[in-house]
Amino acid sequence: MSTSVSFDRVSDIYDATRGLPPEVSAQVTEYILNLVSATPDTKFLEVGIGTGRIALPIVQQGFDYTGADISDNMLNELRRKLEGANHRLTLLNADATNLPFEDNSFDVVLTVHVLHLIPNWKQALAEIRRVLKPNGFYLYSHGRINLQPDDTDLSNLRSQLDKQWQTILTNYGYELKPYGGNAEEVLAELAEQGATVEFAVVAQWQSNLTLQDWLDRYEKKQYSASWQVPDEIFSRSIPDLRQWAQQQYGSLDTPLSRDARFKLAVVRWA
Ligand SMILES: C[S@@+](CC[C@H](N)C(=O)[O-])C[C@H]1O[C@@H](n2cnc3c(N)ncnc32)[C@H](O)[C@@H]1O
Repeated sequence: MSTSVSFDRVSDIYDATRGLPPEVSAQVTEYILNLVSATPDTKFLEVGIGTGRIALPIVQQGFDYTGADISDNMLNELRRKLEGANHRLTLLNADATNLPFEDNSFDVVLTVHVLHLIPNWKQALAEIRRVLKPNGFYLYSHGRINLQPDDTDLSNLRSQLDKQWQTILTNYGYELKPYGGNAEEVLAELAEQGATVEFAVVAQWQSNLTLQDWLDRYEKKQYSASWQVPDEIFSRSIPDLRQWAQQQYGSLDTPLSRDARFKLAVVRWA
């Protein structure tokens, strides 16, 4: 796979399916602003800013924020939210692997659920390091396929569904391929570069979707992993997954609570 994964096709449902609860969003915002001791002069860059799930509350507090993304649809969703408002947000359609900024331009660079979508993620890391000021903060949060060991806990329903879906695909002769760098790879690369990395669980909450909700999301191709699967295999895999879930859990309508966490790696290059 050689190109990054644009979120153009899910921009209209992104917030409804990936949005953070308001109190979680407030916690994430407060954590970031405190961590970097943000002032009106602090310059933020978010690569793969999307619809502004992380950026918007920071922008709304008047901070100087720049966002890059390869999806115009995602960027337009964010622009719409700020229509008529005073703000210091600059948005650009730009690729993480070729950032249109001078060296040492930003105090804080963020990527939240992005590097797992970028085949040349090492080049993206190099670009982030280049545009970050010396002693700046790089805040890295990994995507769903970039599992830390505790995310693979099979008491986590979503992990079980994913695992079963992958088994079904394998049985149909299709191996799901990662698009970009998973957390293990990214963290190993950062260690190799001599970066210091500290981990924080910034927020924890309960998600109460039903099994039916999850299965519907798979079926509607709302998760990026599904976009690589050939249609004929995808359409066979979903009824199989439903049948498995029905057998495994009984009613699909039972609300299934799941621990969700917002985790950040705080990276400093000396
Ligand atoms: C899962 S979304 C995350 C959006 C936002 N960071 C958030 O946490 O809600 C990933 C975003 O990265 C963008 N993206 C993927 N590859 C990219 C690249 N090479 N350069 C810039 N953005 C990219 C996608 O278009 C999408 O908007």
